[in-house]
Amino acid sequence: MGQIIDGKMISKSVKDKVREQTEKLKEQGIVPGLAVIIVGENPASQIYVRNKQLACEEVGFESYKYALPESTTQAKLLELIKKLNADERVNGILCQLPLPEHIDESTVINNISPKKDVDAFHPVNVGKIMIGDYSFLPCTPAGVMELIASTGTEISGKECVVVGRSNIVGKPMAMLLLHKSGTVTVCHSKTVDLKAQCKRADILVAAVGVKKLIKGDMVKQGAVLIDVGMNRDENGKLCGDIDFESCKDKASYITPVPGGVGPMTIAMLMKNTLTAAIEQNKEKLNVNNL
Ligand code: GUN
Repeated sequence: MGQIIDGKMISKSVKDKVREQTEKLKEQGIVPGLAVIIVGENPASQIYVRNKQLACEEVGFESYKYALPESTTQAKLLELIKKLNADERVNGILCQLPLPEHIDESTVINNISPKKDVDAFHPVNVGKIMIGDYSFLPCTPAGVMELIASTGTEISGKECVVVGRSNIVGKPMAMLLLHKSGTVTVCHSKTVDLKAQCKRADILVAAVGVKKLIKGDMVKQGAVLIDVGMNRDENGKLCGDIDFESCKDKASYITPVPGGVGPMTIAMLMKNTLTAAIEQNKEKLNVNNL
């Protein structure tokens, strides 16, 4: 059996460091603040938003929640974002996705100030990720990088296969692995032979949202398996994109679902918000005391 990567424990150590630094910021009169916007009643989004607020409490941030009805117009949402962009107490702005159909996601993302874009979804931040000059790392891929680092696995020269090409995970994930000199393949729904691609992977990151897609016979002996998926199985139980049971004995390391990547995403959001608070207050702060 491969070793289980404990995302809960690793996320706790990231949050502990954020909390320590937050205490030092507070000594200088700065309280990091995160605004979280949710539009509508999507139950999964409500849980994510609640967890983000709880994490803010844990690390000592202020959190400002804006729960808007499903019927909110795009203009009203943009008005709120404009107000938050100008609000000095707010260092990070996160608009939980997905948004209702009548609201254009990219217009919303484009209106968040890149300096407060703690999701790293704004095209300016996406562009920076591409050239390896990042103010904010996108939370889920950054969390995955921490999990890989925790295993002591060297990425340089390794075959890295990312299954999924979303803007939120797959594409930035590929970029972060590439910056660490991995040889990166991105697979997607049109990939002809997914099994053959996955079987080459020393490091496999699954982020497609298809329950238990990756089976034991698709992975290489000794691979590091990272599961970003968050699905429900036949019995309504949470499961990932990787079939844990058939893969666990082939992996050297494997993340569980839940308790793997999920907690890391939130920890990295806290880290980004702290970075934003320091950056936005750098003239006021004595950085030698941080
Ligand atoms: N919906 C699912 N994941 C995310 C995320 O990381 N950020 C935001 N804003 N919405 C999401």
